[in-house]
Amino acid sequence: MFLTKVKILPWRKHVFGSTPLPGKASFSRLVLGIETSCDDTGAAVLDETGAILGESLHSQKEVHLRTGGIIPTVAQQLHRDHIEAVVQEALERSCVTPAQLSAVATTVKPGLALSLAIGLEFSQRFVRQHNKPFIPIHHMEAHALTVRMLQPVSFPFLVLLVSGGHSLLAVARGVDDFLLLGHSLDEAPGDTLDKVARRLSLIKHPRCSTLSGGQAIELLAKDGDRKMFHFKTPMGQTYDCCFSFAGLRNQVTMTIQKKEAEEGVEQGTLLRCVNDVAAATQHTVACHLAKRTHRAILFCKTNNLLPSNDPTLVLSGGVASNQYIRKVLTIIAETSGLRLICPPSKFCTDNGVMIAWNGVERLREGKGILPPDVDVCYEPKAPLGVDVTAEVRAAAIKLPPIRMKITN
Ligand code: KG4
Ligand code: ZN
Repeated sequence: MFLTKVKILPWRKHVFGSTPLPGKASFSRLVLGIETSCDDTGAAVLDETGAILGESLHSQKEVHLRTGGIIPTVAQQLHRDHIEAVVQEALERSCVTPAQLSAVATTVKPGLALSLAIGLEFSQRFVRQHNKPFIPIHHMEAHALTVRMLQPVSFPFLVLLVSGGHSLLAVARGVDDFLLLGHSLDEAPGDTLDKVARRLSLIKHPRCSTLSGGQAIELLAKDGDRKMFHFKTPMGQTYDCCFSFAGLRNQVTMTIQKKEAEEGVEQGTLLRCVNDVAAATQHTVACHLAKRTHRAILFCKTNNLLPSNDPTLVLSGGVASNQYIRKVLTIIAETSGLRLICPPSKFCTDNGVMIAWNGVERLREGKGILPPDVDVCYEPKAPLGVDVTAEVRAAAIKLPPIRMKITN
């Protein structure tokens, strides 16, 4: 198993003895990060301070938009076609040679098996060829830690990660130490928004043809009236911090079918009420995220899991780019006395930078650094940290009402 704690071994000379570079990165150790867990092929070189020396990203978004969702074999082929060039470009942009790297960090879990396999195979070949230490990365750990590259945020902090593949609430207590308070029982919020957008045929909308589902919903919701439709916030009678979005998607689909019948149009036609459906869907997703996060904050307070001085909530993942969701969570954080930090959108979505940063954090602490010849397996499913969802459920915390006045 790749998470074996490794003692200081001869190969660690690579970690501590990288060749000094001319210019800004001279005395810092350098990490190459590689990301292929879903539909983005990303690579970046960071120095130990978190300075991004060079990066490259190939997005498959357009292809998957055209096929109406990610087809794993297509994603795999695109990663295979681009990984070499992406890594090469990141190295060239940073003016770093493989020999100058101190380590290579790569996402190995969780994610699409076929996609993870490409990044891992490439990385293992690369580290063996250049005799470099290898740092296997948990994709969600990387999302959670990215904020620390941008500003000082000390452990412990609460983190809400929302993307196309995940939703989870966790207390980050250390680089490799997380308490999992809640996770999605079915689909992730980004997946729900992508599927609703597809069901609404937003790709045919002149303003949305190149946007991801979540981006399209956010854009249309700005001109919509959320009160035109009422969707029930999921899991109202379950007093834990887990998420569920499949039921909401079902409610939205039924409303769309009803409206199609009323307007006398076929599935695949843009509805007149598309902005209102988008606004109501976005609002319900935001409320569900807010309620679970509010309960997580109260659970943390009851159990002294966050510092009394400057307790912090970090929001990240692709869905965290959504300004409406940010506003709702700002209200929850402010009412509860927490500081909310959202990295800029560029750092919320998948990229090589976040993986390289996770590598830097692990390198600094000497955690999970493997010699180049150790065989590592990818893991499509991999929970983050210690699962305390049962304790959270047992606490059954009821939420005090919060008044929310949000404009689109
Ligand atoms: O983190 P990410 O880049 O990849 C995954 O690991 O999934 O997140 C992509 C997801 C997609 O489902 C996309 O629709 C959603 O994030 N997303 C958004 C927005 N931008 C991207 N969802 C809501 N509002 C947005 N502005
Ligand atoms: Zn992600």
